[in-house]
Amino acid sequence: MKQILLLGGSGSIGTQTIDVINKYSTRFNLAGISVGNRTEIVEELIKKSANLNYFCLKNEKDYLYFKAKYPNKHFYFGDNGLIQIIQECPCDMVVNALIGFVGFLPTIEALKLDKTLCLSNKESLVVGGEIVNKILREGKGKLYPIDSEHVAIAKCLYGKDKSDIDKILITASGGPFFFLDEKEFRNITPEDALKHPTWSMGQKITIDSSTMMNKCFEVIEAHYLFGVSGDKIEPIVDRKSHVHSMVRFKNGDTYLQVGPSDMRIPIYYALNESRPDDENGFNDVEKNTTNKYEFYPMNFEKFPLINYAWKCLEKGGNYGAALNAANEELVYAFLNHQIKYMTISSILDKIMKAFSFIENPSIEDLVKTDLEIRKLTKEFINSDAI
Ligand SMILES: NC(=O)c1ccc[n+]([C@@H]2O[C@H](COP(=O)([O-])OP(=O)(O)OC[C@H]3O[C@@H](n4cnc5c(N)ncnc54)[C@H](OP(=O)(O)O)[C@@H]3O)[C@@H](O)[C@H]2O)c1
Repeated sequence: MKQILLLGGSGSIGTQTIDVINKYSTRFNLAGISVGNRTEIVEELIKKSANLNYFCLKNEKDYLYFKAKYPNKHFYFGDNGLIQIIQECPCDMVVNALIGFVGFLPTIEALKLDKTLCLSNKESLVVGGEIVNKILREGKGKLYPIDSEHVAIAKCLYGKDKSDIDKILITASGGPFFFLDEKEFRNITPEDALKHPTWSMGQKITIDSSTMMNKCFEVIEAHYLFGVSGDKIEPIVDRKSHVHSMVRFKNGDTYLQVGPSDMRIPIYYALNESRPDDENGFNDVEKNTTNKYEFYPMNFEKFPLINYAWKCLEKGGNYGAALNAANEELVYAFLNHQIKYMTISSILDKIMKAFSFIENPSIEDLVKTDLEIRKLTKEFINSDAI
């Protein structure tokens, strides 16, 4: 029985991970969980599972409440609690389904402790992909991606030689505004941007999907996961999200992973340590069938944020940490109706030209960059507020 610690258990990926654990309950047990503001799930899970004993709450008041109510269980709280629960919860695997920068240090901690990590928090790799890979190289930790595109790429690459890759074609749905006239972009509301055409996800990633910042992050993620240079990674649009990504090889063959838009499929693959089995084999990998599907080229002018991916890979250092921090603040400001949709890219542009670049940042430098850029972004937001 694999003991699992799930970080971000109340979110979209978190709750679907619980579905997978429940479906394969003879193989997986939820040993620990972290939640943010949605604490109802803790009460429900305690009633259902006697084997779940470790909990991390975001807020101290929730921690005090649960600790008093369940004195025999282990409780932690806050950012430090996320680190402590990784250190103390007896588990074989950590699933990081946190959203944003808050997931970065837990990723680092899990890998430093040589844990097996299933990573949904792509921001960890955007912020500190170099450092994550260094810890993986030097230690015994393992990392398996959860993102559907990267599971698709991993499946297309299974048993193949990476030196034979011609292009990784990372698919995007194009989001709700792919065909919208650019002149209309100034009128986009959070409600419009939250209507994703094919996937049901948390709010932040849904906005990132509409601006293509999510695809930008996925290009960076693919680079660090598969060790492939940026010029070999190309986004391509499949409006129906049938094809989750493709790999074209130098001999001309193209492999495609095709399937329903259900995150439980890639989550299971990651929990199974990226190994195909009877439940999730290669039936969904097709060869040279691109003609069956309709693809569109990415529109880099209409969705300029995706271009930050290659800038980030070229610059390295703390560029990704700055990009992520500014984007997070801007997305939440847009969701809170503080700024307009178009302001996300205009402020981001100013920040990425002005921030202090560090070539070889330490983990502490990345934390500092995150804090400084958030402060700077908030100043821009306040001066640009609607
Ligand atoms: N959703 C998808 O389909 C999907 C697909 C591929 C990749 N991803 C990636 O998976 C990650 C999670 O995305 P999601 O859509 O599942 O996000 P989500 O629904 O917003 O869930 C995020 C989780 O993190 C918790 N959280 C947020 N801020 C926190 C903080 N400061 N301290 C402690 N916990 C905190 C939330 O708690 P509360 O909600 O309780 O406050 C929730 O449990 C992201 O990196 C995303 O890019 C998501």
